[in-house]
Amino acid sequence: TWTTGNVIEEQVAAIREQVGDKRAICGLSGGVDSAVAAALVQKAIGSQLTCVYVDHGLMRKGETEQVEKDFVAATGVSLKVVDAEQRFLDALAGISDPEEKRKIIGREFIRVFEQAQAEIVAEAGEHGEQPVQFLVQGTLYPDVVESGGGTGTANIKSHHNVGGLPEDLEFELIEPLRKLFKDEVRMVGQELGLPEEIVQRQPFPGPGLGIRIVGEVTKERLDLLREADAIAREELTAAGLDRDIWQCPVVLLADVRSVGVQGDGRTYGHPIVLRPVSSEDAMTADWTRMPYDVLAKISTRITNEVADVNRVVLDVTSKPPGTIEWE
Ligand code: XMP
Repeated sequence: TWTTGNVIEEQVAAIREQVGDKRAICGLSGGVDSAVAAALVQKAIGSQLTCVYVDHGLMRKGETEQVEKDFVAATGVSLKVVDAEQRFLDALAGISDPEEKRKIIGREFIRVFEQAQAEIVAEAGEHGEQPVQFLVQGTLYPDVVESGGGTGTANIKSHHNVGGLPEDLEFELIEPLRKLFKDEVRMVGQELGLPEEIVQRQPFPGPGLGIRIVGEVTKERLDLLREADAIAREELTAAGLDRDIWQCPVVLLADVRSVGVQGDGRTYGHPIVLRPVSSEDAMTADWTRMPYDVLAKISTRITNEVADVNRVVLDVTSKPPGTIEWE
């Protein structure tokens, strides 16, 4: 019979067998899948695993800290955090085209990750440790099916994905979640003692807030969007809507300005878009009929608390024809 206990026991034994006394590395994205895969491998081989987290500066408020503190606290994993914010900002400077942004972010991510990988491999060698021979990935069953089957949506957006690692990869892969669906992964994560905030996380795209700023990505705009997003998330959580909503992208229309009034003065600020969606698998989605009072609270707080934002609008488009993210 299928129980999370059995899955964990089986995978732990298989990973121990596969890795032996060698070492493994794992890229953490902040998402559920890589976190659960890492926790599972950590349970199997302990300090033979090192995790790498690339902070590209496009994360939401508190996300990097969550990986650094909560995840490490729950698993005791050895973690290497690479601060690559400036590198990503430089690479994205002057770029407004969504596909160009996605490609730049994907490329820089792989470069930083490979560099960190090389450092870990070299350090292990220097210390006379066993070579790093394995790369852990949080590939799920639907990922396996989709990459084989072709979903018909492949040409719409270039989804950033660590699965896009080079063909001549010098590592063997460990993919302990290959037979599982998302809800099963969450159950395994829970059983492994990962905190609720990690296990129940809603999907968040790899390119992060970089594809939620319509227009050029700058540090100032990221900070502004981070504030607005944090308010929306806080109020959705306070209203108990986290499980009802699949995800709620918060988008900054950085190139749009509209006239407003605040206090006794005219304002000329940017709109923020709320995009709450309901979905089973993100392939199709409907806009969530959220309570008006929650929308009102979010709108009031964002316009009061976030400088340069004077309007909040609600996206009432299903997918199709809209995609979930704006870029
Ligand atoms: P779209 O915008 O295509 O999004 O309707 C469908 C789902 O995928 C997420 N998404 C991504 N996830 N890397 C990811 O890991 C990406 O590049 C990416 N782009 C979109 C999106 O948040 C939604 O859940």
